[in-house]
Formats: sequence, structure tokens, C-alpha cells
Amino acid sequence: MSAELISGKTIGEEIRQSITQRVDKLKELGVTPGLAVVLVGNDPASHTYVTNKQKTSKKLGMHSELIEFDESISQEELLNTINRLNTDDSIHGILVQLPLPEHIEERAVIAAIDPSKDVDGFHPINAGKLMIGEEGFIPCTPFGIMKMIEKIGFDLKGKHAVVIGRSNIVGKPIGQLLLQQDATVTYCHSKTVDLPTITKQADLLVAAVGRPKMITSEHVKEGAVVIDVGINRDENNKLCGDVDFDDVKEIASAITPVPGGVGPMTITMLMANTLLSAERTLQ
Ligand code: GUN
Repeated sequence: MSAELISGKTIGEEIRQSITQRVDKLKELGVTPGLAVVLVGNDPASHTYVTNKQKTSKKLGMHSELIEFDESISQEELLNTINRLNTDDSIHGILVQLPLPEHIEERAVIAAIDPSKDVDGFHPINAGKLMIGEEGFIPCTPFGIMKMIEKIGFDLKGKHAVVIGRSNIVGKPIGQLLLQQDATVTYCHSKTVDLPTITKQADLLVAAVGRPKMITSEHVKEGAVVIDVGINRDENNKLCGDVDFDDVKEIASAITPVPGGVGPMTITMLMANTLLSAERTLQ
């Protein structure tokens, strides 16, 4: 293996330690950061994510509330709950786990969250602030990726960053953040023609497509930094990313593993956003 391993486990742990210290300080000032997680239905993956978010927030000394609803809950009831959380002073962060059942309009639910408590950074106000470079909330996965890039000391100025994927949660916001750091950003997606020719030009490659091991050494320039956002199962039901790790690690200069890469950073940055929201109440 020639590539440096970018461990989200290690970097995330370091950040969580500093969050714990800041939580303690805030508590001394009479504010306990509070996170409310709303889960609708019983999707097993969502359940696991939500349990991890709750566990982590408690471990860092935060107040945590899990609000669970049956799949049959009406949109109106869900919106009522969000309104209640919006005005609850013990709650600084509200996260509605996605996806929601089909009869509920995701957009309306996200829009109902007070932007100042939108620790996922999905509200249109926060998406807009990110776009124009104003302070709001940065979505957790892109935020975590930027922390990893910073940690390995990769200077983005003038570099070609290629993002594969254009979701509102990862692709679009990570492109904005890379642009803010003076990278030249190219977005690729499912309709992109001749993907390898474009990705081969990348100094930094972010793969957020959701297709197991799709990115191989044929897509990667020698010495590139590769960030793998995918969480998939391979043909043996083993967890894997969008990047063929064993193949690409021979050619990249640094690469994130799956698991243990971007995943642990996402949850860490959710905690960072919740803390930030609580700190802002004292400003
Ligand atoms: N479902 C999958 N990822 C996420 C996330 O980051 N936030 C929320 N709210 N739901 C998700």
C-alpha cells in the first residue's frame, strides 16, 4: 500500500475530545447543548444511525431526546412536533432522520425546522448561506470531509477537485466548500460522458455515488487524494465504499477507508453543529 490512510475514526475522536471540553465549559455557563432526533417508521438502517447519534451525544455530555413515531403519523402531527421543538429552549439541534414515509413531504418537514436549530444544514436558508459564504450550518458529511482534508494538510488552492455526485446532502455542498478554499471544482454525475477522463484530472476526488467499488485505479491520477463517501455492501455482503479501495490505494497519495473513514466524521460534525448552535445562544 502506498497511500496514506485518512482515518475518520482517529480524526473524529480528536474532534470529539475537544467538543467534550467545550460542552463542559458551556455547562458551567448554564447551557447544556441539546439534540432532538426525530425518527419516523422502523427502517433498520435509520434506527442504527439514530441510536449512534443519541449514544454519541450522551457520551459527549449533551442532552439528547429521541422522538419516535409510527410510520402512519400524519404530516401535520410531525410538523406540530417540530414546532414544539423549535420553541423548546433545551433543544439546540433538531434532526429529522431521512428518508421519511412517502405520504410525508420531506421538503415541507425540513422547511419547518427553525434554521438556527437545523444542525443537518438541510434547510433552504442554510443551503443558501453556504452558497453565498455566510455562516449558518454546514451539512455534516461535507463538513467532516473538509476537516479530514485540513487534517492531512492538503492545500486546496488552485487544485482540481472532482466531485462525483450532486445530492443536496453531499455532492452540491462539498463542491461549494471546496470552491471557498480556492479549488477548481468539477461536478460529475450519472449523465457525465467519459467519467474516467475527467476524474483522472483530479488532485482531489470525492466519490458520493452510492455504487459499490465503482471507482477504480482507471479513474484516479497518480498521487491524488481520494475521499470515499459511499456506504454499500459488496457481492459478499461486506461493507464497502464507492471506491475499490485495494485497487486505488496503490495509486492514490491518501485515501479514506470504508468503514472508518467519512462515516465517523459525519456523526462527529453533527455533534459539532449542535454545540455550535448552543454556543450561539450566548452570543
Ligand atoms: N439519512 C441519511 N443520512 C442522513 C443525514 O445526514 N441526516 C438525516 N437527517 N437523515 C439522514
